[in-house]
Amino acid sequence: MEIHSTSLLLLNLIHLFLRISAREFLSPGSSLSVEDSSDVLHSPDGTFTCGFNNISGSAFVFSIWFSNTAHEKTVVWSANHLHPVYSWGSIVMLYADGGMVVKDYNGQAVWETNVSSSSKAEQVQLLDTGNLIMKGQGDIILWQSFDSPTDTLLPNQNITSATKLVSANRLLVPGRYSFHFDDQHLLTLFYDQTDISFIYWPDPNKNIWEKQRSSFNTTTIGVLDSSGYFLGSDNLTFKATDWGLKVMRRLTLNYDGNLRLYSLNKSDGRWSVTWMAYPRTCSIRGLCGMNGICVYTPRPACACAPGHEIIDQRDRSKGCRPKFNLSCDGQEMFVKLHNTDFRGNDQSSSTSVSFHTCKKICLNNCNCKGFSYWQGSGSCFPKSSLVGGVTSLGLGRSIYLKLPKTQVSESSIPHSQPFGHRYAPNCSAKNKIFTTDFLDQPKSSQSGSHPQYLYLYVFLAAIFCVEVIFVAFGCWFVLRREGKQLTGVWPAEVGYEMITNHFRRYTYKELQRATRKFKDQIGCGASGIVYKGVLKDKRVVAVKRLADINQGEEEFQHELSVIGKIYHMNLVRVWGFCSDGPHRILVLEYVENASLDKTLFSSKAPQILLEWNQRFKVALGVAKGLAYLHHECLEWVIHCDLKPENILLDENLEPKITDFGLAKLLNRGGSNKNVSRVRGTRGYIAPEWVSGHPITAKVDVYSFGVVLLELLKGARVSDWASNANEEVETVLGRVVRMLTENLMLELEGSQQLWVADFIDLRLNSQFDNLQARMMVKLAVSCVEEDGRKRPTMENVVQMLLSVA
Ligand SMILES: *[C@@H]1O[C@H](CO)[C@@H](O)[C@H](O)[C@H]1NC(C)=O
Ligand SMILES: *[C@@H]1O[C@H](CO)[C@@H](O)[C@H](O)[C@H]1NC(C)=O
Ligand SMILES: *[C@@H]1O[C@H](CO)[C@@H](O)[C@H](O)[C@H]1NC(C)=O
Ligand SMILES: *[C@@H]1O[C@H](CO)[C@@H](O)[C@H](O)[C@H]1NC(C)=O
Ligand SMILES: *[C@@H]1O[C@H](CO)[C@@H](O)[C@H](O)[C@H]1NC(C)=O
Ligand SMILES: *[C@@H]1O[C@H](CO)[C@@H](O)[C@H](O)[C@H]1NC(C)=O
Ligand SMILES: *[C@@H]1O[C@H](CO)[C@@H](O)[C@H](O)[C@H]1NC(C)=O
Ligand SMILES: *[C@@H]1O[C@H](CO)[C@@H](O)[C@H](O)[C@H]1NC(C)=O
Repeated sequence: MEIHSTSLLLLNLIHLFLRISAREFLSPGSSLSVEDSSDVLHSPDGTFTCGFNNISGSAFVFSIWFSNTAHEKTVVWSANHLHPVYSWGSIVMLYADGGMVVKDYNGQAVWETNVSSSSKAEQVQLLDTGNLIMKGQGDIILWQSFDSPTDTLLPNQNITSATKLVSANRLLVPGRYSFHFDDQHLLTLFYDQTDISFIYWPDPNKNIWEKQRSSFNTTTIGVLDSSGYFLGSDNLTFKATDWGLKVMRRLTLNYDGNLRLYSLNKSDGRWSVTWMAYPRTCSIRGLCGMNGICVYTPRPACACAPGHEIIDQRDRSKGCRPKFNLSCDGQEMFVKLHNTDFRGNDQSSSTSVSFHTCKKICLNNCNCKGFSYWQGSGSCFPKSSLVGGVTSLGLGRSIYLKLPKTQVSESSIPHSQPFGHRYAPNCSAKNKIFTTDFLDQPKSSQSGSHPQYLYLYVFLAAIFCVEVIFVAFGCWFVLRREGKQLTGVWPAEVGYEMITNHFRRYTYKELQRATRKFKDQIGCGASGIVYKGVLKDKRVVAVKRLADINQGEEEFQHELSVIGKIYHMNLVRVWGFCSDGPHRILVLEYVENASLDKTLFSSKAPQILLEWNQRFKVALGVAKGLAYLHHECLEWVIHCDLKPENILLDENLEPKITDFGLAKLLNRGGSNKNVSRVRGTRGYIAPEWVSGHPITAKVDVYSFGVVLLELLKGARVSDWASNANEEVETVLGRVVRMLTENLMLELEGSQQLWVADFIDLRLNSQFDNLQARMMVKLAVSCVEEDGRKRPTMENVVQMLLSVA
């Protein structure tokens, strides 16, 4: 008790100390240092904090953030985001002559306020509004952060013709979107890329009255007031849905180009969207870049137009490039994309023309990339480039793409399927549409080549070689976190919630609670560690933390939404998943008894000896489970790692296969060869896999063959070796040859007792001869070298049933 209260007192003291050490202002000559995370300025009411913020392990940016938000810091302003400084030796300092300077570890100034040297700074202070101000003599404001916003506007912060918001990702690297006054004095959203730039909001096709703006006011000012009401001098008005005082808000231009107003829930520290410029994200022009098409999957994602390929997997806004060259010899053909349109970039527009005429216009123009034709009005829009593609049910328009005369498969045409599963497993190998999430996509491992970071790394490399590794590691860590979802970002997207109906997404917190902070470990495998947990609804579950998932959020979620639909009594049910920051976790059905290997091979007491009937039941159940995986969707779900460890036994000793679908998760988009590097367990992998041949469902048939042999013998193949040097493949080959010979001899009529010799001695010859022979026969044919000669799992089930 005493120890407890003492430590409590100590804690309080530390707290108090921290609060004292956290300053309220900076006076000339003093500085904040990067090393001490408590060396920060607080606003008087504590809402905002200002100091160095690490965007990765050792890259720091002088920023202002909300002090009390859940998860990561919500940065509202930053100074040196283009030049992060090192985690050691860097400072921000106020000079008496009115300059505030951010210095890197080597003394280099990476950022400074431009204040005329004649003015004398008295102090720098963070206000309750989140404004960092530098006061001179007589309380005049020499400089304020409100005058140079980054991607966020706070209440009472003016946006003027001199300021603009620029979208940024989590590493604070500026994106391509900006929000500022245009030359008509209208508040506007711009898209800027080297080869193309345009206005996308307000809709440039509307006239000034339709926009309900006024372009006559040269005052150019806009401000969000304390109650969540925005008023611009151009009559731009909007208000938060939770309009009212005493709510903390921010207006942020997100990385996906949408302008969103957020409100903070003080009790749980989360942000929710209370207004946004585009309720439907795909409508943001340029989101998917040149030749890209925004689709609802149901979550907004980017796909390429047929005949095009992704330029940069990690940055979909770079768009897609054509895989063909148009010869312009009049031999081209047109591919129709239903409910799809590319906005803008019309070469001309004509109405009341026939489809044929429209087609001709485009065919005769070498620069025409395709045309949009509106059936009803006969409007024809030939396109000079394909930007702002969106496919959406009910769009009612079609675009006709000009392609060279080639075969275009239906499956390469993107469709939005907010309610269906167009991108769910389609076994056809041709279904190659690749979609990815674009909200705040990381620049991934290439961030090192990003100029800003290059600067940092080159510098550090020269001096602190070892630290570089840490920086890189830190970045890698951040980048892995990048996929993280912003809560409430997609409230208005149709169908988004639908994925999560039966199959739920869990938060990391929930799972932490369910597993009592991952206490009760019940298993550990190559794909991750498994813990036992109890959900709120009292359901007992197995919670598996996946190791090494290098996948983006979108893909992971997509893959999981497929796995979540798989339901068979011989497959472990996947109840849900968690994809929270770096965490990728599966929530699985809890299966009472341990995995097959523990029961079958363990010599430790108390041992359940699997009786013959039970072994046969296990063989049949596993076969059924695999047949379901292979058959339900042709060859979509290949297990790729079937082994006794992945076969769980329930209370009735009914087998349940686990870890299916993970091969896909670990390998999405990679070549099959890569699978072999990552997956598969020695002794159970088919020979074609090792030799790098294409992987088909027959690799599972091979593994099943090995498991059958082990079920019969009650020992691991790797333990059958006659001497320590014998390779497991050699042993298997020897045993299979022996069994094959015996089967052949049997055909010639010589009855032998070889089956009894082969079968687990612990069974004391208590087995069904017919079933045993069938299992041997099947096992031998399953482990055929040539995958084509192996039976399908469906055949196997039938054969087993024939002797059941
Ligand atoms: C920043 O530093 C804190 C504490 O040192 C650490 O917990 C956090 O993960 C770091 N953040 C990033 C993005 O590296
Ligand atoms: C200060 O002035 C320099 C040179 O004109 C400019 O490059 C820099 O961006 C300015 N800094 C700020 C914070 O405005
Ligand atoms: C915003 O503009 C108004 C009107 O011009 C002005 O009174 C106010 O001081 C400005 N606010 C800030 C923080 O600059
Ligand atoms: C200003 O906006 C309001 C509503 O947003 C609209 O009713 C009004 O007509 C607009 N005024 C002008 C001059 O466009
Ligand atoms: C221009 O905008 C300011 C600020 O919103 C407003 O006070 C003023 O009345 C506007 N002037 C005109 C002519 O609309
Ligand atoms: C704020 O969060 C709490 C806890 O999650 C929740 O109960 C409450 O309804 C939320 N309030 C608002 C206004 O969303
Ligand atoms: C298109 O033409 C360029 C040069 O004219 C060539 O390098 C490229 O390989 C061609 N692409 C295809 C797909 O034929
Ligand atoms: C899979 O794609 C093919 C075209 O490649 C299509 O014919 C088939 O209907 C699709 N199957 C499903 C289940 O969507």
